[in-house]
Amino acid sequence: MPKVVYVDESGVERTVDAALGANVMASAVRNGVPGIVGECGGNNSCATCHVWVREEFLDVVGAPGDLEDDLLDLGVEDRRPGSRLGCQIEMTAELDGLVVDVPPSQY
Ligand code: FES
Repeated sequence: MPKVVYVDESGVERTVDAALGANVMASAVRNGVPGIVGECGGNNSCATCHVWVREEFLDVVGAPGDLEDDLLDLGVEDRRPGSRLGCQIEMTAELDGLVVDVPPSQY
């Protein structure tokens, strides 16, 4: 199972095993990672699953789609180059060890 490392604003790391094909939001919620809400259940409509993908993973994670890009513009407080919606990142073997920073707030 690929692992995802979630880092909170204090630098605390939480590593979870994510099933292949599961997304970064659902993997966090299922494992009780604080700071990821996932209010819309992964339907790309709430932006409460915002994460900052670490720079070294940006190429393999890829860019957001058009709808996600709009939602990031409108729905997150601190958009950065690595901003993605966790529900739109599907875990693959290639993403094993993915590190994402969790914003201090999702609103
Ligand atoms: Fe709502 Fe990701 S869970 S946009």
